[in-house]
Amino acid sequence: MENSPPTIDQRVPHDECPMTSDECPMTSNIPHPPKPMTNSENNGARLRSSAWFDSPELYGWTRKAALLGQGFERDSFEGKPVIGIANSWSELTHCNQHLRQLADAVKRGVWQAGGVPLEFPVISLGEFNIRPTAMFLRNLMSMDVEESILANPLDGVVLLAGCDKTTAAMLMGLASADLPAVLVTGGPQLNAHWRGESLGSCTDCRRYQNELRAGRITHDDWLDLQTAIIRSPGHCMTMGTASTLAILAEMLGVALPGNGTIPAADSARARLAEFAGRVIVDAVAADRRPSRLMTPAAFDNAIRVLHAIAGSTNAIVHLSAVAGRLGVDLPLRRFDELSQTTPTLLNLKPAGSHLMEDFHYAGGTGALCRELADLLNLGCENVAGATLERIVSAARCVNHEVIKPRATPIRVDGGLAVLHGTLAPSGAVIKPSAATPGLLTHKGRAVVFEDHDELLARIDSPDLDVSADDILVMKNAGPLGGPGMPEWGLLPIPAKLLRQGVRDMVRISDARISGTAFGTVVVHVAPESAAGGPLGLVRTGDWIELDVPRRQLNLLVAPDELSQRRSTHANRLRRPERGYARLYHDHILQADRGCDFDFLPRVNPQ
Ligand code: FES
Repeated sequence: MENSPPTIDQRVPHDECPMTSDECPMTSNIPHPPKPMTNSENNGARLRSSAWFDSPELYGWTRKAALLGQGFERDSFEGKPVIGIANSWSELTHCNQHLRQLADAVKRGVWQAGGVPLEFPVISLGEFNIRPTAMFLRNLMSMDVEESILANPLDGVVLLAGCDKTTAAMLMGLASADLPAVLVTGGPQLNAHWRGESLGSCTDCRRYQNELRAGRITHDDWLDLQTAIIRSPGHCMTMGTASTLAILAEMLGVALPGNGTIPAADSARARLAEFAGRVIVDAVAADRRPSRLMTPAAFDNAIRVLHAIAGSTNAIVHLSAVAGRLGVDLPLRRFDELSQTTPTLLNLKPAGSHLMEDFHYAGGTGALCRELADLLNLGCENVAGATLERIVSAARCVNHEVIKPRATPIRVDGGLAVLHGTLAPSGAVIKPSAATPGLLTHKGRAVVFEDHDELLARIDSPDLDVSADDILVMKNAGPLGGPGMPEWGLLPIPAKLLRQGVRDMVRISDARISGTAFGTVVVHVAPESAAGGPLGLVRTGDWIELDVPRRQLNLLVAPDELSQRRSTHANRLRRPERGYARLYHDHILQADRGCDFDFLPRVNPQ
């Protein structure tokens, strides 16, 4: 065994590795770890944390006393970079249940590279539990992340996230704090299996809920499925928002190759976390800050990949918010420009048939990028100092059923589209890749629900006047109206139509949908109805035109009639009396601006 080459579990610093990059198994997905830093290289005087620990005031002395009091030897920390580990672990966030173990792996890596790891908690937002919606608290969590980083003696930070909004908020917070940072997400759950089928949370929860409502499965079947749908720690294993953002973080350079796809239960996930601990120490020495990585070119790469994977519509909102935090101009039209020339390549639920585990073992994000290489900015660097060109050149696709070759894409254009028109002057979003092709050009009569409560009360009523050709419209579910823009946009198909075999209709709202959802669903209509958008003026019986190829969404009502309606329209929105709800109400931006607070972008939006 003495002459055996190092295995992936026996990583050695790049300078000492006897193998070339092509030979080394590590380069197939993850660059070599940096050489551990020495105390002299770290030069304590240059470290941000030295302003805390080397201060002549009494508190400089007490801070070291506190570390000694925590059981650290003096030479464990003196003169070394301090690496924060921001952990969104919570038992209320099942997707993040394993992040404490990942934190231990990160700590190993930090110690190995000559840093001092100190873990701290941040708010955790579990998608299933938080009311009214985790999105309502995303900005609060991003502020917690930013302020916790900046207020403490940290030189760099590793951020542990997983469930949708925890990842979005971490990206926003690290962008605002702009200290060297590595995002490590928890990874997707293992594929679910039920009665011979491979199932994904929660695309198949929604599909079987429809079957239950249509009377095609029993309540006992439904309970049995409940025991099978979530098999392991990790986030939803379809191309939901969590999977999408974990992949896009790689494209933005703040997550390492493999982060997006390695399953949560795979030991490679812990090794990635350990490696991140080494990388962050090197990133501190090289001052690889998010603002140097998350450039306009990197955002273009992220948007290209978003389209190629038919990612979550929510990613448009979150990327817009992250860009704003860095002062990067990212209008909605940029998403659509890149959609026109980016093929959809990934065959993954809800737009396809496979799951995240399959994507990882097919080659992962690197293999997908290899297919797109001529469309990407390959010079972009990541937090480990590796260019995208190097990462792509080391990647291989081993399953073209999952990652389609460029010559035979799933679609010749991107998985998402941005619409404009008289119903959405500031834009709306649809996922054509998960829609019924025949409905992408459709004119129909509106059946309107004033809010989500009315929808729930009436949708299954036998008296509801509705046919399969109608367009379901829901108001007052946007950033202000929801509040928090809940994922209510997948309006249920009326029960009486379900029983007739109808499984999709055009549905329009100012809400969001889960990335795991499917159907011909237009969301993020802006301005929202509660902010005075034309959506608030739609009435049952109006005609609406959806034309995705022309990117149009129009309310076919005469301008004079709309003016008359506007003059008598009563906005039901009420300003909360106090607290976070008041702050949110007063400062939330619309969906096309990323739903950030108006005081958080680095430059004020136009
Ligand atoms: Fe957490 Fe789906 S519930 S990612």
